[in-house]
Amino acid sequence: MDGNGRWASDRGKPRVFGHQQGAKTLTHIIRSCPKYGITHLTVYAFSPENWQRGALEVNALMRLFQIYLRAYMGELDRENVQIRIIGERSKLPTVLQRMIEKIETKTKNHTRLVVQVALNYGGRDELLHAAETLIARHQNTKTPALPLTQEDLVSALWNPSCPDPDLLIRTGGEMRLSNFMLWQLAYTEFVFLPQYWPDFTADDLGQAIAQFKGRQRRFGRIPTEQNAPESNP
Ligand code: FPP
Repeated sequence: MDGNGRWASDRGKPRVFGHQQGAKTLTHIIRSCPKYGITHLTVYAFSPENWQRGALEVNALMRLFQIYLRAYMGELDRENVQIRIIGERSKLPTVLQRMIEKIETKTKNHTRLVVQVALNYGGRDELLHAAETLIARHQNTKTPALPLTQEDLVSALWNPSCPDPDLLIRTGGEMRLSNFMLWQLAYTEFVFLPQYWPDFTADDLGQAIAQFKGRQRRFGRIPTEQNAPESNP
């Protein structure tokens, strides 16, 4: 969800105004997911590097996360939407941690759409955390440490039940991953868009999906009828 700060600066407003607008955009995008057949959506809301922004911006973001989780808990629950937070949550404000536990518990059996919010999330941190989990598991159960399979590593990610993304969309014009889902994006299709996140619309999402459907996904294999563009989910 990149470009909130620049969107606000272009309008002569403080960066926080861009985040507030970005939060509204997120609610529209979540509501539009079922119409496009999306069953899993992950949004990158805060990276470990983001703590280095000014206290004003960081505190405003933490407040915004709480406000939105509280305000939309009822709607998400009624609409059969599951909320999962991925990232190192122990460093988040305690009140936000409590709210996360509440909304995750309330929505844990919902199936229409899973929304993962990456909060204090870093892809490298996730892999380090997975390695630590695997070592601790081995020490506690005395099962052999090696060989290690890809399934073992996935089982130690922050949300092992979430499938790898088919499509990554980055708004705001930058063409890089910025430490996002480094394991899970191995075969994901990328769409980079110039518009800032507050300007991103459900139609833009539809157009990105249309682009995705035109791609041939080969997963390292040679072209076949099965991986021809029309057969993309
Ligand atoms: C990146 O844009 C955006 C963020 C660091 C914050 C994203 C947060 C929201 C959209 C708020 C709502 C989220 C939830 C989960 C309710 P940037 O600030 O880096 O923009 P810039 O590159 O233009 O400076």
